Amino acid sequence: MNKMESIRPTVPARVSSPTFRVGDVPVYGDAILAPMDGFSDWPFRSLCSALGSAMSYTEFVRAEGITRAFDAMRPRFVYEEAERPVVFQIYGDDPGELLKAALRVQELSPDIIDINLGCPAKTVAHRGAGVGLMRTPLKVARIFRDLSRALDVPVTGKIRLGWEDCRNYTLIARIIEENGGAAIAFHARTKEQGYSGLAEWDAIAEVKAAVRIPVIGNGDVKSPADIDRMKSHTGCEAVMIGRAAVGNPWIFSRLDRTQVTSEMIHQMVSQHLERNVAFYGPHKGLVLFRKHAIQYLKLQHLSRAVRTEILLQATPQDFIDHLEQTYIAVS
Ligand SMILES: Cc1cc2nc3c(=O)[nH]c(=O)nc-3n(C[C@H](O)[C@H](O)[C@H](O)COP(=O)(O)O)c2cc1C
Repeated sequence: MNKMESIRPTVPARVSSPTFRVGDVPVYGDAILAPMDGFSDWPFRSLCSALGSAMSYTEFVRAEGITRAFDAMRPRFVYEEAERPVVFQIYGDDPGELLKAALRVQELSPDIIDINLGCPAKTVAHRGAGVGLMRTPLKVARIFRDLSRALDVPVTGKIRLGWEDCRNYTLIARIIEENGGAAIAFHARTKEQGYSGLAEWDAIAEVKAAVRIPVIGNGDVKSPADIDRMKSHTGCEAVMIGRAAVGNPWIFSRLDRTQVTSEMIHQMVSQHLERNVAFYGPHKGLVLFRKHAIQYLKLQHLSRAVRTEILLQATPQDFIDHLEQTYIAVS
């Protein structure tokens, strides 16, 4: 049995009919890993997908990066067939560049292309991209009209509440739908909130009532029970989970943290690190793995000193050897 097969038995049985459709793309399941720059790369995405994440969103990529330096951006769009439906997320403020970029990445056969209308970072939003786009509804209309006409795959948007002085989420959702958008993922926080404060689930219910295309709710989902709570509170088709999935991909198999055993963590850490090393090489693979490892090890009753010692190991093999010795010592 290979390593991936060993985690597959925990995947919820695939229901025979789709939970919902994005355009003509069927989606099986209602919990989805959120796109997260620096986290939802191929190693993590593919593991979440194997555990039940129903769609596989890539980290966002700037349109100009694709049109000017496509080869450098290619690793962001690596996926495996088992991850489908695969969603490539792009961002930008220029409708022409977004269209060119979308046509270029469409050649890599994603199932869906998503436009980011949610990123609050100054370098993005204050230049009119990400949530900056929500301040320019006419531009949003043009982007969705042009892309939905030109592409062979459905186009979707990921939005926020808007800005504190311009909470225009219902308007933007309607514009996306009227201009050919096939689904909306909705992070129910404002630009100014960033990633803190409560997400406003009532707003997700409002958007759900305002459009006919599927709505994927996002914000403050931290447990399997929260998935059901958000769905029943808002009526949304599915729920997107970001930070709570880091170090805890079992949430997609609807397991509570208390149900995750030491053996499962040990196995996942090894598989995830192995995938990171295969994807990035040993040095970069280990460096990029540490932020995930911190979260995995938080699920364990290890002292801070023991955790730090594991994290400081210099090579992937030392990391795994050290982890194994620690497990033997504590079990
Ligand atoms: C480190 C980090 C990176 C993110 N990168 C992206 C991104 O590339 N594209 C995007 O649409 N949202 C991005 N987000 C936002 C998440 O997709 C999600 O909307 C947000 O974290 C709220 O969900 P949560 O409360 O479940 O974490 C990012 C969030 C974090 C924390």
